[in-house]
Amino acid sequence: MDKLKQTRERITKLKKELKAIIVAHNYQRPEVQDIADFTGDSLELARRCIGVEAETIVFCGVRFMAETAAILNPASTVLLSRPDAGCPLANMIDINSLRQWKHRYPEAAVVAYVNTTAAIKAESDICCTSANGVEAVNAVPGEEILFIPDRNLGHYVSTKTSKRVILYPGFCYVHDRITVEEVMLAKQCYPQARVLVHPECRPEVIDLADAALSTSQMLRYARESNHKLFLIGTEEGMLYPLGKQNPEKEFHIITSNFICTDMKKTTLETITEAMKTRDNVVTVPEEIRARAKQAIDRMLAIA
Ligand code: 13P
Ligand code: SF4
Repeated sequence: MDKLKQTRERITKLKKELKAIIVAHNYQRPEVQDIADFTGDSLELARRCIGVEAETIVFCGVRFMAETAAILNPASTVLLSRPDAGCPLANMIDINSLRQWKHRYPEAAVVAYVNTTAAIKAESDICCTSANGVEAVNAVPGEEILFIPDRNLGHYVSTKTSKRVILYPGFCYVHDRITVEEVMLAKQCYPQARVLVHPECRPEVIDLADAALSTSQMLRYARESNHKLFLIGTEEGMLYPLGKQNPEKEFHIITSNFICTDMKKTTLETITEAMKTRDNVVTVPEEIRARAKQAIDRMLAIA
């Protein structure tokens, strides 16, 4: 039997033993997405983890996503497929800086991108993902918003609301890297292409795009569009589900080497190891969990 088949069988056996489900973000490696019970963007993964029957949720993504699953489903054990898979953007804001900002803008409601730690969520009024930032900002009372920690998503949201959005200066090193020149060059090569970018890209890059979308919104857009050719401005793991769901369409990443190294740490081997050792349990202290859950629940209550 070949090694891949053996590893997949081992994972299936471990899943039964642990009464586990495997969930994977859209950026994960193809073989990881293929073994998952479900895949999605941050919002879909959060929703899907609520009230699942499974005793164990094996999370293939980065730590803040696994934490969200643990916050929403305290009855299940959440295992992160690699303990060191983090999100550098989420680590750009800590409690002290958030408190200083809140002190500086005492009237502002805090809207926290889900790419934050549980402790930050616990001190925020509402969470949002890249799929519902505008709705979250409009859902909280008050005209002044402190948007943390991604300045690009915050700026994008600010162009779609009448509220005053104060931007925290965090950014995703993967998406912030795309330049106007790279988009222009890609458009020259494929003038007929639709350009889809993630809202974590810089404002001037979003201005050149046909749409700024979360990863699952991109999948929906590509499926429903009559266009056949797309330029994609997000982590290159997206090429796999886009191609799989649309075999008759063509997708090109705007720039080469567009990789989130933390998302790529998970392999079938690390999933096996995580399930075998059960070491990488993600837990959130109850006092933080309860407050962070309120901010996530407010987001989930948005239609
Ligand atoms: P999505 O919620 O759009 O999948 O984005 C998550 C993320 O980390 C983007 O870099
Ligand atoms: Fe974080 Fe950027 Fe990686 Fe998304 S792509 S997980 S925002 S570092």
